[in-house]
Amino acid sequence: MLASVFSYDSVELSANGREVIILDQTLLPNQEKFLHLTTAEQVFFAITLLKVRGAPAIGIAAAFGLAMSINRFKAKNVEALEKEFLRVKRYLYISRPTAVNLMWALDKMERCFYVTKSKLDDKDKKPIEVIKNALIAEARSIKLEDTRMCLSISENGCNLLKPGVGILTHCNAGHLAVSRYGTALGPIYLAQQQGYAPRVYVDETRPLLQGARLTAYELMNAGIDTTLICDDMASIVMSQGKIDIVLVGCDRVAANGDVANKIGTSGVAILAKHYGIPFYSLGPTSTIDFNCPSGDNIVIEERASYEVTDMYFSKPSAPEGVKVYNPSFDITPAELITGIVTERGIYKPNELTKLL
Ligand code: MRU
Repeated sequence: MLASVFSYDSVELSANGREVIILDQTLLPNQEKFLHLTTAEQVFFAITLLKVRGAPAIGIAAAFGLAMSINRFKAKNVEALEKEFLRVKRYLYISRPTAVNLMWALDKMERCFYVTKSKLDDKDKKPIEVIKNALIAEARSIKLEDTRMCLSISENGCNLLKPGVGILTHCNAGHLAVSRYGTALGPIYLAQQQGYAPRVYVDETRPLLQGARLTAYELMNAGIDTTLICDDMASIVMSQGKIDIVLVGCDRVAANGDVANKIGTSGVAILAKHYGIPFYSLGPTSTIDFNCPSGDNIVIEERASYEVTDMYFSKPSAPEGVKVYNPSFDITPAELITGIVTERGIYKPNELTKLL
């Protein structure tokens, strides 16, 4: 069992269900600041601005945000509560387009709303309270379920590792990106606990530096041997025999095994294929979208140009007004993926229908 390596979670719901508490990931690694969000708008912007990020974490944040804002809503009757619930659900649904966990979690909340409503009877003196409490319980159980899934992913992924293993990872699929522990980083924490002394090479992950700012920060806090490399250095470390395995997360897995993950992931997969290094994508089954036939059907988020030209530089790093293309994710074709590690086991990309 993976013991807790962190003293906090990156997303939490306050005990009274009236605040969503997130660690502002845009300030890391320089500042650990927790934000107490009290409106759906604050949660929406925390997600779009990546204060909370990572596929499972945004799903949890959205579920908490929906439960919190409905809990605060003063409804005259169940119909008014339902109208507000659907409004906030639709609003949070479009906060980011690529990671399917966001939609998965909000759809679960909607099912909870209607199941609870259908079970109300005349004996319920406070039907609005009954629904509000059910939504809070459902949002908490989404987070708990993610923690259980991350633990199993960590155990399944750890079986792929051996003492002294050299790992390359891209973006941040760790504790910060989920409920707890991580997906791609979960097996690394477990391997460290088992004395394998893993060596981890972390792509800095331009333009938003999730690797440098978040993964390096998390791994170093856990005492793991961490080496930061620029994204264009992955080939040389692979060619030098430093990498035995690539572990990355996923934002949406299509039914045919194509994987959407942070921009740059597909390039790492192509390099891994060239050097004969196994490439695994790790994520909970909530990240698999069986309604999406292939990667071609996945919407790739495009983000603002200042993220490329200005964001993490004290002065702009490109001429003012330059045309910028800033896709936030790319698709790794199924044929480049050795396996998809889920809480239910490790599957070849063409075997995902076994999970149905
Ligand atoms: O834009 P981000 O930082 O939310 O992108 C996150 C990633 O691409 C992660 O690798 C992915 O969500 C897996 S998180 C367990």
